[in-house]
Amino acid sequence: MKRAVTPGTFDPITFGHLDVITRAAQLMDEVIVAVAASAGKKPIFTLEERTVLARQAVEHLPNVRVEPFEGLLVDFARSREAQVLVKGLRAITDFEYEFQMAALNYQLANELETVFIMSPPQYMYLSSSIVRELASFGSPVDMFVPPHVAKALRDKFPD
Ligand code: COA
Repeated sequence: MKRAVTPGTFDPITFGHLDVITRAAQLMDEVIVAVAASAGKKPIFTLEERTVLARQAVEHLPNVRVEPFEGLLVDFARSREAQVLVKGLRAITDFEYEFQMAALNYQLANELETVFIMSPPQYMYLSSSIVRELASFGSPVDMFVPPHVAKALRDKFPD
């Protein structure tokens, strides 16, 4: 049984994240989407809101579940007996940061393998902060996020 964790802040979850999660779900037996507290990033959605939005976004994927977590990612992955960390790679700019994280996680838990899934071109430039910024100016975000996330953003940034 291959169990993977796909971590992130998911503030909020986007089609870019969903692409990575969907492809991970095709490669692995089970995928746990781990929603990090990431208090240092001062997310606009609470941990509970981000978890609920992610849960609704993956409900059509039977081997995927969503869990919030605080603390170290490797501790969470170990507690769930996962063998693999799956991360999305968008542009070359992601590489240095992801390389550092993968190396650090390897030092902390070398039984955990980090696997990168490349984002397709249409999501290479997408990020949660771009989506938040567009929504804050009242711009439609329906091409970047599922409908329930677009609604949550409209509620967060009323005109
Ligand atoms: N498609 C679209 N957007 C993507 C993406 C993809 N495939 N992959 C990443 N992104 C975006 C995210 O939306 C996020 O956007 P934003 O910064 O504009 O909001 C940005 O890229 C960074 O994403 P990510 O690399 O996943 O970072 P994160 O901050 O969302 O999550 C954790 C990083 C949670 C995995 C990491 O901080 C962590 O492991 N925390 C736990 C504590 C810990 O273990 N620390 C030591 C780690 S070595």
